[in-house]
Amino acid sequence: MEISLRDILASYDDTASLAEASTIPAPWYVDPRIEELERETVFSKTWQVLGRTDQVEQPGQFVSATVAGEPIVAVRGNDGVLRAFFNVCRHHAAAVVTEPCGRAQLLHCPYHGWNYGLDGSLKGMPEFEGVKNFDRQQNGLVPVKVETWESFVFVNLDPHAAPLKDFLGGLVKRVSPLALTKRKFFETRVYDIHCNWKVFIDNYLDGGYHVPHLHKGLNSVLDYKQYTIENEDRYCLQSSPVVSSTEDPATSAVRQSDRAWYFWQYPNLMINCYDDYMDSNLVLPLDVDHCRVIFDFFFADVSDGRREYNQQSVAVGARVQEEDLDICEAVQRGLKSRAYQAGRLSVRREAGEHLFHRLLAADLKGGLGRIAAAAD
Ligand code: FES
Ligand SMILES: [Fe+2]
Repeated sequence: MEISLRDILASYDDTASLAEASTIPAPWYVDPRIEELERETVFSKTWQVLGRTDQVEQPGQFVSATVAGEPIVAVRGNDGVLRAFFNVCRHHAAAVVTEPCGRAQLLHCPYHGWNYGLDGSLKGMPEFEGVKNFDRQQNGLVPVKVETWESFVFVNLDPHAAPLKDFLGGLVKRVSPLALTKRKFFETRVYDIHCNWKVFIDNYLDGGYHVPHLHKGLNSVLDYKQYTIENEDRYCLQSSPVVSSTEDPATSAVRQSDRAWYFWQYPNLMINCYDDYMDSNLVLPLDVDHCRVIFDFFFADVSDGRREYNQQSVAVGARVQEEDLDICEAVQRGLKSRAYQAGRLSVRREAGEHLFHRLLAADLKGGLGRIAAAAD
């Protein structure tokens, strides 16, 4: 008999202290019903990165992406206001904007040529004379909440969502001394990985536990014993002093800084920062067994003269990423084994995972409760 979703959720004890806690159980990573519930109660309710602020600086500039399965576009109006909409034509539901980013004077649907203003209002419909009881004012693009923070454009599909700053909580103050926006966008890399999105997040949040074993190059420049882990609100900061080392010259050449700062914001955003370097990682579930991770690389100096150095730095980041890919895919296979149910957590290292699992459990359990109540 198939175990119920309620029982799967109940099998994780989110009240246990770190010393007593287990990870979320294996079915959370492999059951499509969990994935569906996450889409409804996590990705449709939290602030999600849609793109970067540098993509929507000028009037008419837009960025589009899929959030919780919904096509979304954000566009800067002629009045300077940034707005976001469901990227779904009110005529027959085609995607109005078909490019991931760009600049336009009007949003023009490619299917039958309906036009929308940058404010979402419906401006024109070819060959629509004679249609009765059709109110153009009521047929603009459907708006979505949008806000920006540092270098990122966030949207929230929940019309009742609290403001972005409330959601980010203490992260805003913690990040502010690092002046993230002094680093400018350089390059994007996209990885599709054969694992549940949470496997990638867990890997990130293990407090450096895997670094000496899996990332020898990175480990050579981090002071592993001094690695610190702070949990607050919905974020975890993992940080380490950076040391000079001759062990891996490629890494030490491009990872010079007093400290390494690794921020994770629930549920799926990471920001990694050194003095003149930052990369952001956005982890997107594709299905229960696959995720996509979008890496954006930023540097303080993106001039041509610095290009080669920046490319070397991206290559070092990409190597760390490659080292993580295989292990994440091995974990996903292991989670399906009858030999595995859940694992314990290192008190010294894995507090970040504990926070992630508790936040997720709260959203899923609360969300299922609301859905059940609405169905009654
Ligand atoms: S679907 Fe957009 S104009 Fe018909
Ligand atoms: Fe790693």
